[in-house]
Amino acid sequence: MITLNNGTQIPHIGVGTWTLRDEIAVNNVKFALQAGFRLIDTAQMYENESEVGEGIKQSGVKREDIFVTTKVSTTVMRGSEETIRQAIDESIRKLGNYIDLLLIHWPVKNCVMKTWKIMEEYVKSGKVKSLGISNFHPHHIEELLEYAEIKPVLNQLEVHPLMSQVENIAYNKSQGIQVQAWGPFGQGDINIPGIETIQTIAKKYGKTPSQIVLRWIVQRDLITIPRAKPKHFEENLQIMQFELSSEDMIAIDALNQNMRSSVDNDPENFPW
Ligand SMILES: NC(=O)c1ccc[n+]([C@@H]2O[C@H](COP(=O)([O-])OP(=O)(O)OC[C@H]3O[C@@H](n4cnc5c(N)ncnc54)[C@H](OP(=O)(O)O)[C@@H]3O)[C@@H](O)[C@H]2O)c1
Repeated sequence: MITLNNGTQIPHIGVGTWTLRDEIAVNNVKFALQAGFRLIDTAQMYENESEVGEGIKQSGVKREDIFVTTKVSTTVMRGSEETIRQAIDESIRKLGNYIDLLLIHWPVKNCVMKTWKIMEEYVKSGKVKSLGISNFHPHHIEELLEYAEIKPVLNQLEVHPLMSQVENIAYNKSQGIQVQAWGPFGQGDINIPGIETIQTIAKKYGKTPSQIVLRWIVQRDLITIPRAKPKHFEENLQIMQFELSSEDMIAIDALNQNMRSSVDNDPENFPW
């Protein structure tokens, strides 16, 4: 477990749910919890919060033993204060009467302050335990810290060997903000476990290339949330049981190309 800046504890590895819908989403969450995962990542944008909530109920694991993250969507952020409150209320209802961690999904231009102030109300009323951000660069964080009464505990960023985010992670660390890695295996045409260096290191340790990628992430003191199907659960849980040498960490660090694999060209989401 990692301790966040407000004293809350969160597991090193969890399960993402992007693109999962209907029965598959319910079952993935249920089986992930039964396999031993305690961290589940969803978002209003994924349109699967009800299924995530249902999977939690069906798992038989106590709600208080599970750490559930969701995110306020960019569409909701662009709406009125009433729209934002309604969307957060809905998320809370679907995810078991409270949310462990509520993130701003993207730093939507001119909408962050209004959204953050409302999110703070929910922490004060006890319906949300912690607040965080996602896809924020240091300058977005600096601006937020000027008015935030409640500091973000975590920043969810795209992190994989071709996009190692060294500077952004160092900045977050200097502010006491934990980084959580999304998209560890790359999206679209980018196949991170297929990279030759990763495959060579995997053979050396007798591990899968995916385990090497996940281990490189957690060994950098980051949290990660691969979108695992049941076939990956055991493989992903086992990354806590071995260690990469510093030479191999450096070899993977050297793969960085600052290459974003996600395709989101909406300038309102990316006012970099
Ligand atoms: N904050 C944000 O803006 C943001 C953006 C994107 C995602 N996220 C979150 O981060 C989570 C993870 O990112 P992602 O969904 O983009 O993709 P990902 O976890 O990087 O990749 C998942 C894909 O990798 C393959 N894979 C190979 N080995 C695997 C292993 N050991 N475990 C899991 N998958 C393996 C899987 O394919 P096969 O199943 O075919 O093997 C799966 O389709 C999302 O589900 C979401 O919760 C957040």
